[in-house]
Amino acid sequence: MSWEQNVRRVVPYVAGEQPNKPGMIKLNTNECPYPPAPGVERLLKRMDYGALRLYPDPDTGVLVDALAEYYHVSPGQVFVGVGSDDVISMAFMTFFNGRRPILFPDVTYSFYDVWAKLHGIPYRTCPLDEDWHICPEDYRQPNGGIIFPNPNAPTGLFESLETVERIVRANRDVVVMVDEAYVDFGGRSALPLVEKYDNLLVVQTFSKSRSMAGLRIGFCIGSEKLIGYLNDVKFSFNSYTMNLPSQLLGAEAVQMGTRFIVARESVVHENYKKKVIGARDIDSEVTGMSHGHPVRQLRNKMTREYVKLEKEGAPFEELEQLTLGALRKAVVEGDVVNGTLMAGQCAGLVQKEQTCEEMIREIMEQAEKLLSPRS
Ligand SMILES: Cc1ncc(COP(=O)(O)O)c(C=O)c1O
Repeated sequence: MSWEQNVRRVVPYVAGEQPNKPGMIKLNTNECPYPPAPGVERLLKRMDYGALRLYPDPDTGVLVDALAEYYHVSPGQVFVGVGSDDVISMAFMTFFNGRRPILFPDVTYSFYDVWAKLHGIPYRTCPLDEDWHICPEDYRQPNGGIIFPNPNAPTGLFESLETVERIVRANRDVVVMVDEAYVDFGGRSALPLVEKYDNLLVVQTFSKSRSMAGLRIGFCIGSEKLIGYLNDVKFSFNSYTMNLPSQLLGAEAVQMGTRFIVARESVVHENYKKKVIGARDIDSEVTGMSHGHPVRQLRNKMTREYVKLEKEGAPFEELEQLTLGALRKAVVEGDVVNGTLMAGQCAGLVQKEQTCEEMIREIMEQAEKLLSPRS
């Protein structure tokens, strides 16, 4: 008998590396290259540090109110958390307590299966179609809840609002979560559907288009009933989740209304485009790469290979050994924002500072080498 028998054992999610080397072009965690809204800087400079001796507002009122006003909903329809990771994890705990498996796409944000395992939630993954889109028919089977990102990550492809609504409409007896971490870069938000469907939860983050990943702010909007249940769980877990600076600076950013709507409208800053990927390659939606682009094709090949091996039941160690672990990390952490997907994915393979062309060439060579023994 050992105390270890009583330990909850989990295989943790591996968070993106945060190297801090001068001059490094960092792409692996999809942060925005621009600073946050100017008001955020101003407020940060005149913040009252004496206020830090107090606990923050447990209801995060200032931020909830700002979000409610901005999105034209009632404060009772807004829940905020420490990044959307916190919001989604809390929502898994709150809403996915049935016996039936929850559903999510097989190629998607790789935290979902980690949370499902952590919270003991059965789950089933639904394959994407040949063009890497979600198949709405797959979400008509009996289930205990649904989550999918829109746009999906790492594919960068978004589904139409009609497709999202079809999924929500067909699943009125469970909670459907749409993870809109990247919606400001492509696709349409499902927020207008919240008034119509009391089982829909729309999750967003300040980490991407608002350039505030360092403050860890996420939120969701849904019916007052859903948000009430979420708050019950949150207050049974940790009342003071969000610190004071995040609440104040988050509210300021919302009031300024500043978000960086980049990829779809192709308003990625010209210099940034040239520096990172080569402007001529940024031509399609969201991922910013054309389907025929060799880098994008290789990424797809890698994803298929990885998914195939995983389905065959290859242990993770083996995948790791084959260095497909690195490729998986690469695939999963891909940058859907501005077409730097492949380069960002392979940040683990290529660490030194290079021009974009050099970086892509090296990635291609290394990736081909890694895949060739198996093909
Ligand atoms: C699809 C998706 N959802 C959620 C998150 C979590 O973002 P955060 O916790 O920073 O809000 C990420 C982060 O990269 C993501 O890619």
